[in-house]
Amino acid sequence: MNIHATRAQAKPPQPRFLMCPPRFFAVSYSINPWMNPADWAGSAENLHRQAELQWNSLRRVIKGLGAEVDTLDPMPGLPDLVFTANAAVVLNGKAVLARFRHGERRDEEPVFDAAFQTLQVRGLIDEIIELPQDVTLEGAGDCIYDTRRDLLWLGCGFRSGAAAAEPIAEALGLRCVPLPLADPRFYHLDTALCALPCGGVIYYPGAFTPAALAAIHEHVAPGDRIELSQADAARFAANAVCVGRAIVLSNCGHGLRAKLERRGYAVVETPLDIFQKSGGSACCLTLRLDHRSAAAAGAAEAIEAEPMPAKVAVAGR
Ligand code: ARG
Repeated sequence: MNIHATRAQAKPPQPRFLMCPPRFFAVSYSINPWMNPADWAGSAENLHRQAELQWNSLRRVIKGLGAEVDTLDPMPGLPDLVFTANAAVVLNGKAVLARFRHGERRDEEPVFDAAFQTLQVRGLIDEIIELPQDVTLEGAGDCIYDTRRDLLWLGCGFRSGAAAAEPIAEALGLRCVPLPLADPRFYHLDTALCALPCGGVIYYPGAFTPAALAAIHEHVAPGDRIELSQADAARFAANAVCVGRAIVLSNCGHGLRAKLERRGYAVVETPLDIFQKSGGSACCLTLRLDHRSAAAAGAAEAIEAEPMPAKVAVAGR
């Protein structure tokens, strides 16, 4: 049998994301510098309506790119439940549940736990793992799987603790590199870094301590470093969702778009500025459920699982 021919014919697995509709989304407390409850209250109804429209467009874009989207039921009183990236770190069918730093978000923990139990019953998650009580970890918002390097980057300092690195590495069986964060506006790693399937890493240097920058430089070759300008960082261009070779984000400048296109990506913009009033954007609103590490999937398959979509045009926008 010709192995290459077999692989080329095999259909790549469909990317799968968890999202939560913004029915109860609002800015009603402040736990990061973007959140201003008084501002929100001034035009709450209008902002909420726009949030619903923007979220629906994001979901439509992601589905239009061929991904599967599972949704979690929203809950009154949990305005930030919409940011499912913070639910857990998911790899190889294992979900390491989040433990939030701020009391304002702690009631989301049992809701996310229940959602993973449902996913487990459906066969989409194999194992649910809890971290030791004293460890803070805000899910994939702070812990990003880098497909090409087969490692996890852990943003720490504002939300997740550096102490999470060891238990995560142990639970998921791969390296976890702590990146201490320096700027409170970029309090979660996914607001300042995005690891692309090709090995490129988008990051905003101003968000990181010198130690974190040294770690990034140690692992990422100069040709793979895609530094964000302050303007792109401020519009959360790093908070992007990769679906195959499409990069979905709220907004980015021409320079970044050109760099990404040169690498063979299609950049799809879908405005999410209303969610940035809470400190979030595209990536925060999604949680990838199907990532497999190179060891688990077989190195060749892990790379082939991120193909260029046949058609990047998104219907219904
Ligand atoms: N208001 C939320 C918080 O401060 C926003 C979370 C954004 N999520 C993310 N993965 N960056 O916790």
